[in-house]
This record gives sequence, C-alpha cells and structure tokens, in this order.
Amino acid sequence: EEAISLESVMAEFKLSNNTLRRMMTHMSDNMDRGLQGGLNESTIAMLPSFVPELPNGTERGKFVAMDLGGTNLRVMIMEMEPGEPMRSKQFNTRMPNSAQHGTAEKLFDYIAKALADFLCEKGLENDGLMVGFTFSYPCDQTGLRSATLLRWTKGVTATGAVGEDVVRLLEEAIERDGRVKVEIVALINDTVGTMVAAAYENGGDCDLGVIIGTGTNAAYMEDTKKLVFGLSNATDEYTHKSMIVDTEWGGFGDRGEADYIFTQYDKIVDARSDHPGVNSLDKLIAGMCMGEIVRLVLEKLTNAKVLFKGLPSDRLNTIGSFPTKYISEILHDDCGSYANTRQIMDELAIESYTFSDMLLLREVCVVVSRRSANLAAAAIACVLNRVGRPKMVVGMDGSTYKYHPFFHHWVTEKIKELVQPGLECTVIQTGDGSGKGAALITAIVARLRKKKE
Ligand code: BG6
Ligand code: GLC
Repeated sequence: EEAISLESVMAEFKLSNNTLRRMMTHMSDNMDRGLQGGLNESTIAMLPSFVPELPNGTERGKFVAMDLGGTNLRVMIMEMEPGEPMRSKQFNTRMPNSAQHGTAEKLFDYIAKALADFLCEKGLENDGLMVGFTFSYPCDQTGLRSATLLRWTKGVTATGAVGEDVVRLLEEAIERDGRVKVEIVALINDTVGTMVAAAYENGGDCDLGVIIGTGTNAAYMEDTKKLVFGLSNATDEYTHKSMIVDTEWGGFGDRGEADYIFTQYDKIVDARSDHPGVNSLDKLIAGMCMGEIVRLVLEKLTNAKVLFKGLPSDRLNTIGSFPTKYISEILHDDCGSYANTRQIMDELAIESYTFSDMLLLREVCVVVSRRSANLAAAAIACVLNRVGRPKMVVGMDGSTYKYHPFFHHWVTEKIKELVQPGLECTVIQTGDGSGKGAALITAIVARLRKKKE
C-alpha cells in the first residue's frame, strides 16, 4: 500500500494544460470520425437533431414541452408572442426509482400520465396541442420525430427501450392512457434545447449549448454536408444548409482513449456503476459520480488514519452516501461557522472530528470538483476551437454547474487558457433550457411548416 496524503490525492487529480490539450486533440479527432462514421468509428456519436436554425424572435403560439432526463420529469405549457416574455405553467415531479428501473412500458406510462393529468387539470386535453419532447439520452435520430434509443446513460435501466423509437413509445403510452389529444412534433436532447433557449435570450446568438448536471453533453451548429453518417438513414427530407449536432461527448473514453485521466477512484466508480465502461467522460465530469469519487477518497484517507483519527462511520463506508450536492454545500460554507460541513458530519454519523478534518474534507471537495471543471473546460474549448468564431457564446445549464460556488469561475478561466489565440467566449447560464428550448423548437417547426405550405 502506498502512503496516502492530501498531497498524493492532489497529484492524482491534477491535470496539466498539456494533458488537457492532449485530450482536446483526441476529442476533436473523435468528433471528425463520429461525423463520418458515427459510433462505428468513434466514441463521440455526433447525432443529428434535424433542428435547422435558431429562433429569430417571430415564434408564436401555445405549446407543450416535456422533459425527461435530468433530476426531474416536467410537463410545461408555454405561450409565446414576439416581443413578449414567454409565459409558462409547469408541473414538476421527481422520477420514482421504480419507473427508472422497471420496464419501458411502465416508464412511458408514468410520463403519459403526468402529461394527461396536467393537461386535464388545465382543460387542454382536447386542443391537439403540439408537443416538444426533451429526452436526454443518446438517440439515433432519423427525423425530427423519430429517434431510436442507442443506450441508457445516467443510471437508467428500464428494459425494452434500447433499440426502440422513443417517440412511438410515448405515443403508445398516451394512447393507452386515452385522455388527451396531442401531436408530438419534435424529440430533442437537452443540450439542443439549451442552445436554442440561450439563443432566444441572447438576441439570436449561441454557439454551444452545454449541460453539466447529472450527465454532461454539448450541442452546436454544424454544416449539413459534414453530417455524413448522421444523415445516411434520414427519413425526413432535409434541405437546410446547417443542423444542430448533439455531440454526446459523454461517451469519450469508452474505448480506452482517456485511460491516462482515470484515477483509481474513477475506476472503482465505473466498475460499480449500472453501465460499466459506458459514458466515461460523464463519469469523470458530471454530478452523478462526483460525490461518490469524493467519498472514496475520504474512505481511503480515513483508513490510512489521515482523517477522522482513522475512525470511519458505517454511513461514510456506504456507497452513495455522499451525494454531489454535499460538495457544493461544503464549498458554500461560511468559513467562520462551518455550519454546512458540521451538518454533513452529522448526517454521515462521524462522531469525532477536528477543525483540521473539516479543512481536509473541504480540500478534497476542491480537488475533485476542480478536476471536473478542468475537464469540462477542455471539452468546451475543443468544440469552440472547431467552431472558430472570434466572439462566441456558450449557453450553460445543469445542477452541477449551477449550484457549485466556483465551477463557473474555474471553467471560464480554464477555457481562456485552452482556446486558440484570437478566440473569445462568454458563458451564459440559462434556466430551463428544455422547457423554453423544446417549446421554441416546436414553434420553429410550426413556422417552417407554414412557410412550406
Ligand atoms: C435543466 C434543463 O435545467 O437541466 C434540462 O432544463 C436538463 O433540460 C437539466 O436535462 C440537466 O440538469 P440535471 O442536473 O437535472 O441533470
Ligand atoms: C448524458 C446523456 C446526454 C445528455 C447529458 C446531459 O450524457 O447521454 O444525452 O445530454 O447526459 O443531461
């Protein structure tokens, strides 16, 4: 057993700019190969979204937006009029575990019920409203409203969904429920929704939509000609010259290309996860695993008697007992009282701890979450270098980014160090990418349909 100390942990999680640049080169290379050959040739899928343009401010109408894929399931009714702020009503619920880990039929019945309950409550069940469905898992999309689930990520395991058309699964569930008449017009990834919503809020401009929440991913606008693989099976006729691409960068590392970044802790987290070897970059960066990585470090420091006098608690030794929100709570602490840290010590049933223990705990949270911010910045800078405009805008959403007190500062500082000279970017945080974004995309589709008629 090698000796473990704060210094040795810091050394393990440290990533030099050279290492980050090496990763950016590998990522960019995988993005090129993904555009050409999809997952056959790359771990970054580069999926087509069939969304041709960003909002231009003339969108209008009343739409339903549904969101599955983060912490919550949401149903929203959005109303928009040019020049007016968007109006919305929403219904929010946590996805029960049983729905995430049962059968696809059960999962989609749950979603359809939430939709029907909400529309019936508002008396809109027979209006035939258009629905935009934000479904934030990798899908092989052959049209705006046909998309086959490639794999589950973020710990969902519902059986009978992979390989199926998720729009059809939802439509069938709505039919089984039988209470509402709606038309599903678009299926979108949350990063696509975030990009569109950020553009709407930012005078039409957004170069990259990024999520750093339970998982991480990004979308950007690509030249249609480059989507060789993505459009090879298209069922929708597509005549526009550009299209938003859902990169699914979370898959980077799944064929060993990021082994030099994995620490012993990352390997344990991956091996114990629902889908070992799947979505490696997600596990290194995003919130689903960050807390568990910290817990494993704490466990090891305790066993080595560096922390808590070598006396762990059963709770601290339990998988999943250190959720990622603990990291932001600890780092938000007021350094006079350490009230949050003390509360967390209580929740973890650590009976005796010193002031130095609290400082060390805080440092571990800094080290692990800073590594994640560095990797996120490298991934963002990689895409920005490809887009290559002098002044770029990144629309950002997700709980990990939003609730962590330093993440935004770390990410923006690191991007500056990693983008090519002459390129600049601003990161704007948007709320509710999938609500506003899904509604806007539905409105764009409605507008383009009208133009065709
Ligand atoms: C929300 C977006 O704010 O963030 C969703 O509207 C997105 O579309 C979510 O999926 C991601 O964050 P988390 O932390 O819930 O995974
Ligand atoms: C995961 C999903 C991806 C999603 C991201 C953020 O990486 O595979 O589709 O966009 O999480 O929610």
